[in-house]
Order: sequence, then C-alpha cells, then structure tokens
Amino acid sequence: MFSLEITKDYQELSERAAELVVKQLKKKANSVLGLATGSTPLGCYEQLVKLYKAGELDFSGVHSVNLDEYRGLAAEDKNSYRHFMDENLFSKINIVKEHTHVPDGMEENREKACKDYDAEILSVGEIDLQILGLGLDGHIGFNEPADFFSKGTNCVRLTDETIESNQRFFRSKEEVPREAYTMGIGSIFSAKKILLLVSGKAKAGILEKALKGPVTPRVPASILQFHRDLTVLADEEAASALS
Ligand code: GLP
Repeated sequence: MFSLEITKDYQELSERAAELVVKQLKKKANSVLGLATGSTPLGCYEQLVKLYKAGELDFSGVHSVNLDEYRGLAAEDKNSYRHFMDENLFSKINIVKEHTHVPDGMEENREKACKDYDAEILSVGEIDLQILGLGLDGHIGFNEPADFFSKGTNCVRLTDETIESNQRFFRSKEEVPREAYTMGIGSIFSAKKILLLVSGKAKAGILEKALKGPVTPRVPASILQFHRDLTVLADEEAASALS
C-alpha cells in the first residue's frame, strides 16, 4: 500500500515535498535524509532553501546520504552529483558538510568504492526519509533494470536510455560517464519512509508500470509497492496514466 498525492503541477509538487521534509525535521531535528539528484527534486530543494532563509528550518543536526555518483567525476566537476548537491542545497543551508555523504566518484576501484559507501551509509544510521526520483526506465538511484534487485552499493553500467536522458546536463552524449556508483535497492528499501517524486508527461507510462505492474527488477521502482511507508507525489501529467 502506498499513498498517492496528485498535485496540479510541478510547483505544487515541490511545495508539498518540502512540506513533508519540514514535517520530518520538526518531528526529529537530527533526521537522516536520503537525497536524490536529477531535475525533479530541484524545486523541493529550492523551497527548503527558502524556508531555511526565512528562519523556519534548521539543518545543523541533519545527516544526509545521497543515492549516487557518476564514476570518474570529481567533486569539483560541475556534472558530478556532489557538485549538484553543494550548489543546489548544501551551500545554501546550515547542514554540516561532514554530515553529507555522496559516493566517491574518483575511487577507481569499484569494489572499494562500494564497500566504502556502504560503510558510510551504515555510519549515519537508519534513513528516516528517503527522497527518490524516477528514471524513464524505472530506475531508482542509478539501479537500472536488471535480473535481480541489488542489495548494497553497486557499480552500474548506465543504459543507453539513461545516457541519452542525462546528456542534457553535459555538452555532448560522449561526455556522459558510462558507469555510476549507486546505493543498492536493499539500502533504499531500508529507509523508514520513502517519498517518490514524479513530474511530467514523459514519466506517466513508467509511473503506472512501477505502481500498478508486477514487482520485478526489470522495473526497479516496482519494489516500492512492497514498502510500508511510501508516499508518491505526482503532478497531474505524471499521474495521467493511473486510473
Ligand atoms: C538520474 C538519477 C536519478 C533520478 C533520475 C531521474 O539518472 N540518477 O536518481 O531520479 O535520473 O531524473 P530527473 O528527475 O531529472 O528526471
């Protein structure tokens, strides 16, 4: 069972998502937040920054773990997810930099990168609220369609569809890294609460599959149907294929 909230548009979706984060922080000031990148959570982050600047939010006790990072991109690279988070959220609020965790894209040794990140995730404790976006192929984090659900952090080869969809952030398709480190589905699933944000017509078909179709690693987000505390926030366009 999940709760589905349909909003008029992206703006309303972002405001509602921020409201749910605020609710979480009011309940527990030292919450562990699982954070996502991509265009979808940006509006929510903007709202959180606004509320912080208005003196309504305090992130000093918050810890965060991000879902993923491109393999081969340094923190300073403007396309790295570390840079994205610093730019769009962390540098604009009073979160302690050392409390923020993103996989190390510059660790070449895949096994070590994954082991290290699993240890980081463990060190912050249970994720209280995990924010997720949805890939066009149903991926969450960078867990692409596969034969099985991943448990811990893993190194994935990005699918052509994902590379094409993410090339908008890069100068060319060739520049998009082919691999990424991502938190595993098992770790994502261990979060106490999950908030899935989905916006736009292009996501309507995959959202319907994820929420109404069979639970299968071919549609990684479908596992969320089994979660005990999932809220789906979708705007009208994204929800248009759900009857
Ligand atoms: C990226 C990220 C995901 C994100 C997804 C959707 O590949 N790794 O975490 O949810 O794409 O992105 P967007 O919100 O831009 O559609």
